Order: sequence, then C-alpha cells, then structure tokens
Amino acid sequence: MFGARCLLRALRSCSSAPCPRQRPAARVSVRGALGVQSANGERVKVQGWIRSIRSQKEVLFLHVNDGSSLESLQVVADSSFDSRELAFGSSVEVQGQLVKSPSKKQNVELKAEKIEVVGSCDAKAFPFKYKERHPLEYLRQYPHLRCRTNVLGSVLRVRSEATAAIHSFFKDSGFVHIHTPVITSNDCEGAGELFQVEPSSKIKVPEENFFNIPVFLTVSGQLHLEVMSGAFTQVFTFGPTFRAENSQSRRHLAEFYMVEAEISFLESLQDLMQVMESLFKTTAMTVLSNCPKDVELCHKFLAPGQKIRTYAKKQLSNWGADLHTEHEKYLVKHCGDIPVFVINYPLVLKPFYMRDNEDGPQHTVAAVDLLVPGVGELFGGSLREERYHLLEQQLARLGLTEAYQWYLDLRRFGSVPHGGFGMGFERYLQCILGIDNIKDVIPFPRFTHSCLL
Ligand code: 4AD
Ligand code: MG
Repeated sequence: MFGARCLLRALRSCSSAPCPRQRPAARVSVRGALGVQSANGERVKVQGWIRSIRSQKEVLFLHVNDGSSLESLQVVADSSFDSRELAFGSSVEVQGQLVKSPSKKQNVELKAEKIEVVGSCDAKAFPFKYKERHPLEYLRQYPHLRCRTNVLGSVLRVRSEATAAIHSFFKDSGFVHIHTPVITSNDCEGAGELFQVEPSSKIKVPEENFFNIPVFLTVSGQLHLEVMSGAFTQVFTFGPTFRAENSQSRRHLAEFYMVEAEISFLESLQDLMQVMESLFKTTAMTVLSNCPKDVELCHKFLAPGQKIRTYAKKQLSNWGADLHTEHEKYLVKHCGDIPVFVINYPLVLKPFYMRDNEDGPQHTVAAVDLLVPGVGELFGGSLREERYHLLEQQLARLGLTEAYQWYLDLRRFGSVPHGGFGMGFERYLQCILGIDNIKDVIPFPRFTHSCLL
C-alpha cells in the first residue's frame, strides 16, 4: 500500500510522455490557437473536422473545428494540398505555423505545412450540407451526427459550462455533493410515473426479484437527500431522473437531469426561494460571461425576440385546482413575462412530504414552483413535514406507513425543519437559450416511442 505522501511523489514523477529528441509541433485546440494574441510563427498541430473549404487559384482555405469553440480556425494552404478527400466533414490533422491573419475576421491563421486526412467524408451521403442551415427537427433524426453542427455544438458547450457553474455555485455556497442512487425502491413524487427495473430474461436469478423487492429508476433524489440532511446541513445532487410520462411535449422527457438541493434548519419558503433565485441568477450570469458567442448564436438563430430577461420576483397565492400549462402561461404573461414564484398549493394536490400550513378550510402546504416565460415550471420545491405526528397522519392516509418507516425515523431521531427544491436542467437550458423544444438541449433525448441509439 502507498502512503499518501508516497503516492503524491509517485504521481508527480511519473509521466506517460516519452523524451523527444526533437520537439514535435505542439498540439493546440482551435480555441487555444484563436486565443493567441500575437502569433509569431509558432509550430503547432491542430486536429478536427473540416467545416468549410474554399479553393482559389493558388491557395486553399479550410476552416477546421474541434468542438472547443464556435469559431473555426482558418487554415491557409498551398493549392497543391487540394485533394478529393479534403472535403466538408472530413477529419484532419494539420501542422504548420500560427501567424497573424491579414483578414479582419480573425486574429490568427494556420499556415499549413502538412495536412493529413484522418478520415474522409462522403459529402453526398452526409446528411448535412455545406453552408445549409438545417432545421432542428431535421437534425434530431441524426442523434449520432448532429453534434457536428454549429447549433448543437453551441448548445452542448453551454450545457457543459452550465453543469460546471451549478457545481461551483453549490461548492461556493458550502453545499456537500451527494451521489443519490439511480435505482430505488421508493416513488418520491407518488405520481406513479415509474420505470420498473428488472434483469433481462437471459440473466437467471433464483429469487423472483433481483433485489427481492420491485425497484425503479429514480423520479427524484429528494428522499435520499433528506436522509443526508440529517447529518449535513446543506446538500445537493445533480443527476439523471426518469419519468414514464406519456408525453411528447416540448418540455417533457422520459430521462432528464435534475438539480436538487436540501437545506436543514430552514423554516421559511422565503429563504428557500432566495436560494432558488440565487442559483438561477448566478449560474446564468456565469454561462453568459463564459460562452457569450454560443448563447448569442442560439438567440440569434433560434429564438428571435426571446432574449434573456431581467429576473424579477413576484408572489402569487394560488388555491384551487392544479395548474396546467395554459394557467402557467397565463400567470407568467399576466406578471409581465418574467419568472414568477407560485406558493402554497392545496394539500390534496401535492406529495405526502410537503409541510402542512394548517391554514383552515383552504388547507395548503408550503410548496413553491418557479414558472418562467416560454417554459413553464422550472423549479418545484417545498418545506418538508418535519413533525412526526403530521407526517404519520399523511402516510396513514395514503397507506404508506409501513414502507416509509425509515422516513418517519428521520423525524424521530433529531428532526429539524428543512426544505429543498428540484430544478429541471433541460428546462433551465431552454430558458436561458430560448430553445423551444427540450429535445434539442440534451445530447440523446428519450421520450415516449423514441429511444434512438
Ligand atoms: O416538480 P418536480 O416533480 O419536483 C420533484 O421531483 C421534487 N422531489 C424535487 C425536490 O424538491 N427535490 O420536478 C422538479 C423539476 C420540475 O420543476 C421540472 O423543471 C423538471 O423537474 N421536470 C421535468 N423536466 C423534463 N421532463 C420531465 N418529464 C420533467 N418532470 C419534471
Ligand atoms: Mg412540480
């Protein structure tokens, strides 16, 4: 066994790179190359895919993209490099000198000394055509290829940036990240939208169920976070979530990512809403400042007229039947097309874990949803019922007392007021990018009747 110090020393001294006699051209990303302020003939190597090719009498212009930025790197080559294989979509490795570009469009360009076609591309059969802007519905038919387009490239870079921003937000706010399970035996939301998990018939297990009991893909990590909030005052999780909702709507998926937080010793919805607002604002600002060009592309081409709006908060008290999409739209519009918090829903409409407001005939629970323009419900959260006897009554009413003994235990042993929320990550991306259909902000969308790849 290594001691910690030994391990550190070993890691510092080991390297997989051989000792080169002659320095090869340094491999740089397109983003790295484009960021060079004063190029001075440095020898570099760039690897990527040809996004455009233009051949003039004596020169050949290529634009090479490697996914590191929306912009491609211009490669200038002698026309003797021209070949049939050097085509839109081909993968290439280019070595040459990074020089200042005479064009105003870019700071630097790569003067090619060597171009190797790593994989050629049959342009006729390739579903995307040079210089054509294909509709998103068309791109969706090619989940294995659409990441090579500008628009999906931008969306996926923003997705990656937003993921990092969300983790940073929680880390900076002192939250502990918990890996909640994907396979679970509980139905947190109680809505019956569960996918059951069973071994494929080929695998023989002597017992009737692999886990002895029926198990499902998680619809929410909340209950597991609540377990953790009995030891850590601020926890979060960010992972895949599954709902067997029979919907092909533009805001529902069968597999989506959810950001969930749980906060102990929290006593008011106001305090919870502050965290929700802060998460939304801080991460959106980070994304906007870290990838402005990607965000701009989405807004320019996909959502004309739906720019990111100033975030403001309004409160509505609602009582009565459940809110449907049309009501949500109305509320958002009524408040001036801004994000709107809706609080205190009727108890009968909400899951067993929400805190009873004990407010007489209205009988509401301390629930909060955040509705946003163009998307509808983005966050769902609540204070949790921390009082043993009230929770026990709720569970008894639903016939769940036995199954949720462990949950009641959390209220027997050092119970604290607490609350939390979940934010649909794809809806968040739709909101900040103004993208109409949720299937265009996730790499591989899964929904009723469709699971491509
Ligand atoms: O409102 P929901 O159902 O809340 C919960 O699951 C809580 N247990 C979360 C918590 O308090 N920890 O879901 C939270 C959010 C919704 O507001 C919505 O943005 C998103 O998850 N969501 C979906 N996103 C895409 N496709 C679906 N089918 C979704 N269902 C919910
Ligand atoms: Mg909800």
